[in-house]
Amino acid sequence: MNKQLWIIANWKSNKNIREALEWIDKVGPELENRLHVKVVVCPAFTDIEEVKKAVLVGNYPLIVGAQDVSPFAEGPYTGEESARILSELVDLAILGHFERRENFGETDQMISEKVQQAKKFNITPLVCVQGKEIKVPEGVNLIAYEPIFAIGSGNPDTPQNAALVAQGLKEQYGEDLEVLYGGSVTSDNSKAFLQQEELSGLLIGKSSLDPEEFVKIVKIAYLI
Ligand code: PGA
Repeated sequence: MNKQLWIIANWKSNKNIREALEWIDKVGPELENRLHVKVVVCPAFTDIEEVKKAVLVGNYPLIVGAQDVSPFAEGPYTGEESARILSELVDLAILGHFERRENFGETDQMISEKVQQAKKFNITPLVCVQGKEIKVPEGVNLIAYEPIFAIGSGNPDTPQNAALVAQGLKEQYGEDLEVLYGGSVTSDNSKAFLQQEELSGLLIGKSSLDPEEFVKIVKIAYLI
């Protein structure tokens, strides 16, 4: 079949630099240059630079991403990471994750501004939507369907329902939209999601923290 797939690790607020580098040392050498699978790691901001260096030194086929981007340009915005600054290190950013909407008051408007900033500096925006009712900002081609009940719960959606949601989103926003699934993905259930024609990969939280588990999922994707 060999459709294009994304396997994206979302470390959330986990791993210090030492732990991040241990992960890269274990995962990097296991990755293969497969044109149809893009593997991405999104570490905490403070880990990004060291992770990027380790990826370059090891020449690993691993894209480095961020978990957020400021909705503002560079300037007087204390504590924010602007897209211009991040663009030296990352190629993708997870935007509008439910945990940011819920804990940090992110609105569709803010997410749309973050998308504009990311795009301006050539960072691919990966926008998370919790269902078909969430608005996908203009200019976004990559989204992750992450139903709230499935995030970190050990209770994933069914692959069939995820595919139905993906189909609905494509009908609404265009067939070119790439839709990933996220929420309690493991090496045991990943194949069933990846086999769904409508799905273009996985956004993985908890299971991505363990290098062996993450490598297992990547290797399953290589065989799809
Ligand atoms: P989970 O998280 O895999 O731990 O459910 C996924 C996510 O929130 O991106």
